[in-house]
Amino acid sequence: MTDASTPADEVRPVTILFADIVGSTALGERLAPDEVKALVGECVTMMSRAVEEYGGMVQAYAGDGICAYFGVPAAHDDDPERAARTGLRILEVVAEYTREVEAAWGLADFAVRVGINSGQAAVGQVGGAEPGSVALGDATNVAARLQSLAAPGTILIGEAAARRLAHRFVLEPASEFEVKGRTAPVRASRLVGPKARGTEVGATPLAGRDDEMAQLLGALGDLVAGRGRIVLLLGDPGMGKTRLLGELRTLAGQRVTWLEGHCLSYGGLAAWPFVDALLGWLGAEIGEPEIAVRTKARAKLGALFGDELEELLPSLGRLLRLRVEGADDSGSAERIQTAYVRWLEALARQGPVVIALEDVHWMDTPTRELGEAVLALAESAPVAIILTAELAPSSEGAALRLRALGNHGHRTTEIPLGPLSDEAAEEMLTGILGSEVDAVTRMGLVREAEGNPLYVEELARALLERGLEPRGRTWTVTVRADLLPPALENLLVARIDRLSAGARQLAPTAAAI
Ligand SMILES: Nc1ncnc2c1ncn2[C@@H]1O[C@H](COP(=O)(O)OP(=O)(O)O)[C@@H](O)[C@H]1O
Ligand SMILES: [Mg+2]
Repeated sequence: MTDASTPADEVRPVTILFADIVGSTALGERLAPDEVKALVGECVTMMSRAVEEYGGMVQAYAGDGICAYFGVPAAHDDDPERAARTGLRILEVVAEYTREVEAAWGLADFAVRVGINSGQAAVGQVGGAEPGSVALGDATNVAARLQSLAAPGTILIGEAAARRLAHRFVLEPASEFEVKGRTAPVRASRLVGPKARGTEVGATPLAGRDDEMAQLLGALGDLVAGRGRIVLLLGDPGMGKTRLLGELRTLAGQRVTWLEGHCLSYGGLAAWPFVDALLGWLGAEIGEPEIAVRTKARAKLGALFGDELEELLPSLGRLLRLRVEGADDSGSAERIQTAYVRWLEALARQGPVVIALEDVHWMDTPTRELGEAVLALAESAPVAIILTAELAPSSEGAALRLRALGNHGHRTTEIPLGPLSDEAAEEMLTGILGSEVDAVTRMGLVREAEGNPLYVEELARALLERGLEPRGRTWTVTVRADLLPPALENLLVARIDRLSAGARQLAPTAAAI
């Protein structure tokens, strides 16, 4: 009998990241070997910290680099995205470190190369006294090879990871290369950075969801007429929460000031979604130089607040981690709350405001506390607070929902997103596959997808990618386990990982059906 701490070997979707420092040999000409070792060690430590920040696991330290897994021991819906953000963070911290090394020793050619790949890997325990998990297989080999091919200061990613990241990140095609033991060449892409806000577009037209859209438009109408509202969009991953929010944003257009913040599964800064919303309004991105953000904050908040700027800026500055002078208590939760609410009130005096907080089942305590203060604004100002969430009973997000229903019930609309109707799922399929696909195939896909739009998309795309093979007059399609697209697989495995170890024992059998 195995327990959770010694999982049996299993094949599962994993995203693997390799990062390696180059240029440390040049340091050897200037410094003693133990000094070089200390500098490189420091750099490796910073890279490991980046991995942990995003919930990955450092599996090994090899020479001047690391190998990390995302999805071991537990899978997350967004493992490839976590790995991508980790890779970008690693480039950032190493670049900063390089500047320090250059300033101190006059050596500039210190850099890091990163390779990322997603795929199936056999995960199991190796080692005696201190066993560690390893993920073995083609996916890992390709990730290592990508790393070795990356130019210093860049990230190369494999095909499966690229598919998962294309909607959120800027990718550039890189060259194809051979991997020993593989017949087909591997196509690599360079991961450039996250896409700018608002450029993520829905690929297919909205299918179904008429009632839900009507409810959302009702709330929007109230808001534009000057009444505050709270809307809770609830549903499992992939059900279309983000999509409906996007539709509403488009329909609202210029009539409202739209603010948006995302709760992150890996935590991030305290009260991050509110930081995110404020940064978005300032037209700033995370990772921008502090002075640039500070300049934007002074300019935009100054125009809004006038004389009150010096009173409110220190607290908002603390929230944004800016270097602003102010009273000692300006960073207290209470002062930050007051300043944030005053900011929203000032905006609402100019016109209706939507503040959308995404995936609140992941929110932390400071976010919930600030969230409660913001909810109260729906009573007094033309502010609509829209929360999207998965139902997770014991989360901070669930507490915020209860607060909305309990204290502001008459302002609150709850919209649960159930499965799409078969007609709507078919409509989506037609949008993706065209009208060529026969009815039997179509019905098979609709059944497999269980009304979840993400599943519809992923199954349809998988079919397209593997090629539709005409056999006789119909297309062949059997949606087997080996056809399970990576996004879907992550969702399913993440779901299984949330189950108890006991229930998990059954899962492999279930998956084989
Ligand atoms: N009603 C719909 N019609 C067409 N596509 C949809 C619909 N709902 C969701 N989608 C698509 O399905 C995918 C998953 O939806 P998303 O909004 O990201 O789910 P969630 O935010 O609930 O996890 C997205 O690509 C989205 O564009
Ligand atoms: Mg979403």
